[in-house]
Amino acid sequence: MSCPPVSPLNQNQDSDSCGKNTKDLGAIFKPKSVAIIGASTNPEKIGHQILKNIIGGGFEGNVFPINRHENQVLGLKTYPTIGEVPDSVDLAIIAIPTAHVLSAMEECAAKNVKSVAVITSGFAEVGKKDEELKLKNVADKANMALIGPNIFGIIYTPSKLNASFGPRDILPGKIAFVSQSGALGIALMGWTTMEKIGLASLVSVGNKADIEEKELIEYFNQDGNVEVILIYMEGIKQGRKFMQTQVKKPVVVLKVGCSQRGAKAAVSHTGSLAGADKIYDAAFKQLGILRAKTFTEAFGWSRSLSLPAPKGEETVIITNGGGIGVRTTDECETADIKILDDPKWLEEKFRVTMPDFGSTKNPVDITGQAKAANYKQAVNIVLREDKINAGIILYCETVITNALDIAKAIQEEYEAVGRNKPIVVAMVGGEKTRDAIYYLNEHHIPAFTSVTQAVSALKVLHTWKDISCRVKDNPETACAPKEAVDLIEKVKKENRNILMEHEARKVLELCGVPTPKWGFATTAEDAVRQAKDMYPLAIKIASVDIVHKTDVGGVILNIRNDEELRTKFNLMMQQVKAAAPKANILGINLIQMVKGIECIVGLNHDPQFGPVVMFGLGGVFVEVLKDVSFRIVPFGKVEAERLINDIKGRKILEGFRGLTANKPSIIQTLCAIQKLAPLVKEIDINPLMTSKDGSYAVDARIVL
Ligand code: ACO
Repeated sequence: MSCPPVSPLNQNQDSDSCGKNTKDLGAIFKPKSVAIIGASTNPEKIGHQILKNIIGGGFEGNVFPINRHENQVLGLKTYPTIGEVPDSVDLAIIAIPTAHVLSAMEECAAKNVKSVAVITSGFAEVGKKDEELKLKNVADKANMALIGPNIFGIIYTPSKLNASFGPRDILPGKIAFVSQSGALGIALMGWTTMEKIGLASLVSVGNKADIEEKELIEYFNQDGNVEVILIYMEGIKQGRKFMQTQVKKPVVVLKVGCSQRGAKAAVSHTGSLAGADKIYDAAFKQLGILRAKTFTEAFGWSRSLSLPAPKGEETVIITNGGGIGVRTTDECETADIKILDDPKWLEEKFRVTMPDFGSTKNPVDITGQAKAANYKQAVNIVLREDKINAGIILYCETVITNALDIAKAIQEEYEAVGRNKPIVVAMVGGEKTRDAIYYLNEHHIPAFTSVTQAVSALKVLHTWKDISCRVKDNPETACAPKEAVDLIEKVKKENRNILMEHEARKVLELCGVPTPKWGFATTAEDAVRQAKDMYPLAIKIASVDIVHKTDVGGVILNIRNDEELRTKFNLMMQQVKAAAPKANILGINLIQMVKGIECIVGLNHDPQFGPVVMFGLGGVFVEVLKDVSFRIVPFGKVEAERLINDIKGRKILEGFRGLTANKPSIIQTLCAIQKLAPLVKEIDINPLMTSKDGSYAVDARIVL
């Protein structure tokens, strides 16, 4: 019997065998012609509003309203069915009652429509999964891209396409916003316009019957009109497909439903399963997706991520107020942003920008009497000096100057030098300050009302730079060796679903997990023969009938020599027989005792993402602090090291009470254990002892 490797796509898959959706997403975003099935003359109908938005948005392609009993809607000739449209149709928007959607889709398929967006609700989100599957099947058969159902529409500003029933006026920009929630998407459309945040696209994905995040990210990867992809997500339907996503541009995700109650709410909202939040966290990290905690953070990051990447770390803060400068310095330290510290050089460069009582130390305080000209001069230095890699420009409202003038001065300088490095702005004050912030946002300079947001927006550029430069990981592809597979099969044949300790250790060892020296003996003399270079060692009883070995005297530690081993072996046999007379005793495990830092390694199966590997510090760290992190199988050595470095207590691994972890052998364990993913339900190595000499799976439990 041979073992199948864990393919990234071998679970929860219903797209083609490579996980590639070959459907034409260009037909959704850059259609030459759009049909609206359900276009009505009644302004209260959604179909009417969508048509109105398409016309009002200035879409330049052909527009075909479909209505069975009207000749015209909003001045356009209608057709009773899509089949009667005289031209080809790239995108059909469907806004008719649930019961008629399937036949409308079939008509679209017959007409060779390239893509459909189903606005209609009443499918998987209300339990009608089979009805939704029928839509997907029609779409697949006709190779038609399907967005939705249960969506508010699609907006793509470069095509002047507003096929939604949301607000009309959208500010064009470079952010593609993908929203799983309709109402929230609509609300945020209005908000982004007010905040002067430009959008290239807004896609409501609803129930994601066909097109999901993966296809959209990969479409926007190659779309020159999009610089940043922002996703509001409640849950993923096909985790293993999602793990195949190619992330080439910054992707910011706001994943909600982190709390238990929140997760339940997400399930009833769009019918998506919300898995353990830590697993989502792992998936995002593995893919290089940036996870934001709040909407403010997500939009802040999305704005700054279209700035040029910082070439280095040295940052200069320009401020007209001491207090706000100090606050920003604190934030920078927390965020690990390096403040340029060269007082002599700073004095030389920035003295000309301020009165005598100003400070050239970083933060550079150009004082409360600073006017637009002072800002212009200071920003000019920030931008032109190669020694400075990024700037944080702060402004506290004063009566002697106009915030908008300062915003204009910053913007003029930025454009004049050609947007050569990242700058972020924080402005604190009243209404006038707000106008200045809007002005900057409109000119694609991220501006905020709080320094925390500004610093976070700068930090994310460093994070994205690290992600884009990170070493490629080569996921583990090896299978478990035949001997290990046979052993597991034997256990199954005996109708057992938990391997005994010596079996688990053997299986792990065969897969390449380092174990301490160990043996399995049926007599005291057999034990002594095997124990030669194992001392000090521990002995443990082996019996399928005994679960809690300690309770029956089945564990003895610190045996130092042959003499002790003989005595303790016999003692254990007597103790166990007395405490569990009916137990079938197979023998005794001998395990070399090893010292080190206690870690825990596990393998489990997540409903969305399939097999996942866990790593953390053992003992109190795992019980009380739950300091563990995960990665989705398969991953390689590079990702295994990132997993180790992910835990909060990673410093302990670098040296603790004279002990240092052996990272290469932990990495080896994390990679080797993956070979068993297709064969087992659960693996728990606890503890994995690590010291500079190596790491050893001291105790292990494998559940089939
Ligand atoms: N072919 C062509 N036209 C049709 C067909 C058909 N098969 N069936 C119906 N029509 C016409 C109707 O005659 C009507 O036109 P009319 O006003 O000229 O008579 C029009 O299409 C609309 O049909 P209605 O029966 O009036 O349906 P209504 O507009 O009330 O509802 C809708 C349709 C909006 C799709 C509804 O079923 C629905 O799903 N609403 C929820 C939509 C939603 O919320 N989506 C999620 C958004 S995200 C968020 O959370 C906001």
